[in-house]
Amino acid sequence: MSAAEPLASPRLVVVPAAGFGAAAADLVAQTLAARGDAVLGLPTGNTPIPLYQELLRRAAAGEANLSRARVAMLDEYLDAGTVSFRGWLEDHFLRAAGVGPERLLAMPSRPENIAAACVHYEEQLAAWGGCDLQLLGLGHNGHIGFNEPGSEADSRTRVVRLSEQTRRANEEYWPGREIPARGVTTGLALLLAARRILLLVRGEDKAAILERTLRGPISSAVPASFLRRAADVWVVADEAAAGRL
Ligand code: PGA
Repeated sequence: MSAAEPLASPRLVVVPAAGFGAAAADLVAQTLAARGDAVLGLPTGNTPIPLYQELLRRAAAGEANLSRARVAMLDEYLDAGTVSFRGWLEDHFLRAAGVGPERLLAMPSRPENIAAACVHYEEQLAAWGGCDLQLLGLGHNGHIGFNEPGSEADSRTRVVRLSEQTRRANEEYWPGREIPARGVTTGLALLLAARRILLLVRGEDKAAILERTLRGPISSAVPASFLRRAADVWVVADEAAAGRL
């Protein structure tokens, strides 16, 4: 693919850092207003924390209704134990939001029959009608979910080997714990099929990769660049992350 490929839709919202959670929450609220039982694809990581806090604040204040929202996990460690994205998401959002197992599509993580479990995950999401709003963080290497560089746009939900950079970055979430070598991720094909995508990017350390994502060649070298081919993509970036655009 070349840099000359026409750009699709990404709509860029740049906000001061203090307004990041509210700007992202406004887009989630839009989706929930259109459909109370919308399927939200949710990531873990530092980036979405202000969004989750703002959504919980709005829900507590009666300004947002999460009571029917459904959640599909984006990725997980293979053989997740005490270190698990499901646990992280429960601690940071799901429990307080009242999203129980019946409204959660968890990413499989047991190694036994994992390929079949990945197919089942995609079938379950299809049975829910697909994803209304897929939220994503952006890895320093351009990954989305655990779709590391080299992942193709037609990739399916699958087991992947994590890059050293990703494992090191993940140590921040679980200081002192061993980060598994492999993960399970929603494939790019499924991510790109979401009715709307919201890429969340915070901090100066993400400025270079956001520039490559939006302005560089569309290529598996930067998996996030494939987002430019999706129909309805929003990027919410704080001023530091948008500094090179
Ligand atoms: P972060 O992770 O939100 O902790 O920066 C994003 C990612 O690597 O996908």
